[in-house]
Amino acid sequence: MAFRVSQLAVGGFDHNFSYLVVADNRDALLVDPTGDVEVIRRAVEEAMPLTPRYILLTHGHLDHTQALGEALCFFPAEIASHPSHPDAGRIRLRNRQQLPFGDAAVEALFTPGHSRDSVCYRLTDDSALFTGDVLFIGCVGFCRSKEMFQSLQDVILPLSDRLTVYSGHDYGPIPSRALGEEKRLNPYLNCHSLEEFKLQLQHLD
Ligand SMILES: [Fe+2]
Repeated sequence: MAFRVSQLAVGGFDHNFSYLVVADNRDALLVDPTGDVEVIRRAVEEAMPLTPRYILLTHGHLDHTQALGEALCFFPAEIASHPSHPDAGRIRLRNRQQLPFGDAAVEALFTPGHSRDSVCYRLTDDSALFTGDVLFIGCVGFCRSKEMFQSLQDVILPLSDRLTVYSGHDYGPIPSRALGEEKRLNPYLNCHSLEEFKLQLQHLD
């Protein structure tokens, strides 16, 4: 296995998830360090030795960056995000930019809708997709309907069924699921027009 993904239930504002990903060559990255920083610290310590490469931010909402400053103390890595993210660091990503990671890469997919700076991150071996508040298991995040519909249709749906979806909150019936299953079961991925999508959004609570 090329990458090991740890899904960390960090509490936070609302059942948040942070993630630690470690590659075979010990390259490591964090996604959205937030909530209980001790949970993240423990996961990092248990995975040692590792080389902190990136901290990937999915978007600028405070509930996804709460532990960023503390995480940088024990995980000194470059911050990568959409250029307009309020905590943007040295790596200001372009859409579809790939960052070398392990023996593959991580690809930034711009997916506006929940926020203008929303980015999903794909491990290019198609093992994992980190979706922040764009896509939850069985649901989507609050959004501007037109942008979100476009992002789902043009960016998310064409991706490989094999990807495991890892979202920013534990809102679904299970904590993660294959994108192929999401395409089958998530009603927001089964809308064939913007009008249909807007009607479906009325069920969002
Ligand atoms: Fe958010």
